[in-house]
Amino acid sequence: METLTLKSPFDMHLHLRDGEMLENIIKYTAQNFASALVMPNLELPIVSVDLAVAYKQRILEACKKQGIEDFMPLMSLYLTPSLTEVELRKAKELGIFILKLYPKGATTGSQSGVKEVLDSKILEILGIAESLGMVLSIHGESNGFVMEREVEFHPVFEVLGKSFPKLRIIFEHLSDYRSVALVEKYENLFATLTLHHMLLSLDSVAGGMLNPHYFCKPILKTKKDQEALLQVALSGHSKFSFGSDSAPHLRNAKEQKGAAGIFSAPILLPLLVQTFESNRALEKLETFISYNASKIYQLPLSKKNVRLCKKPMIIPQECYGVVPMLAGETLEWSVA
Ligand code: NCD
Ligand code: ZN
Repeated sequence: METLTLKSPFDMHLHLRDGEMLENIIKYTAQNFASALVMPNLELPIVSVDLAVAYKQRILEACKKQGIEDFMPLMSLYLTPSLTEVELRKAKELGIFILKLYPKGATTGSQSGVKEVLDSKILEILGIAESLGMVLSIHGESNGFVMEREVEFHPVFEVLGKSFPKLRIIFEHLSDYRSVALVEKYENLFATLTLHHMLLSLDSVAGGMLNPHYFCKPILKTKKDQEALLQVALSGHSKFSFGSDSAPHLRNAKEQKGAAGIFSAPILLPLLVQTFESNRALEKLETFISYNASKIYQLPLSKKNVRLCKKPMIIPQECYGVVPMLAGETLEWSVA
């Protein structure tokens, strides 16, 4: 049977939640990736180093319970105006070097986010982060019209890109084709790409019967956006790394309350391989999911390899109460 081995796959944007959900879903990522950047937007957000260290411990314990010992969670710190230089230095010493900035109200768990990104207090924090060699990941959306939010946020990236030339800034989950040129414009600006933004459009949400399972932030956009983002990923462009933004919500929260987030963790590697293979770009896959992240975030490659085989994977209708992306469909590859 045809097989394929991926070296040190990284998922640079992942929601693992906490408690029972964490324990249920951790295996989907921990078995298949060497490392993942864990988002801090828990119900009680990870706003301090102590909280991040304790959360990392819970993640590692959940891995251990599943018999997984070769997965490294990379922690991020939720940026609030209360972050101090002492706290940032402590973070850096403990290997926590990624700050996540949520504009207040932009998405799930952003209530503690930043009201005004260009506020002097925030700029002061970013100056310290720059001097410490940290990375700033941003959910780049305004509070304007839903389809234009990402582009409306561009001026903030322009100011930050110019003001902090040594700060590596990540434009998270790019969804609009117009953002690609912006990322290319500044040397210190990079981006993550999700699979759903490169394979789906707003049609999946609202083109037929309303489908809340494809509702996410930033919202899926046009076929033109989708195609442009896919081409960027397939080209192995050095400024773009893979970040799934897999974001589980229980079925009820999606269907009754309209929670935003797509749960893609169970299908990521098979779907990545299928996508790159069908577009004759398999030779660029490791660049996209391993080497680019390693360079952008200055992460050593792990020794962990993940093997896939060309055997159909039937995607379940539900995983622990969560409906995964492409539920019920069949993929060409499975993780061996
Ligand atoms: C994410 C979540 O559910 O935590 N939701 C989403 O739609 N992507 C938050 C986020 O990354 O925006
Ligand atoms: Zn996210």
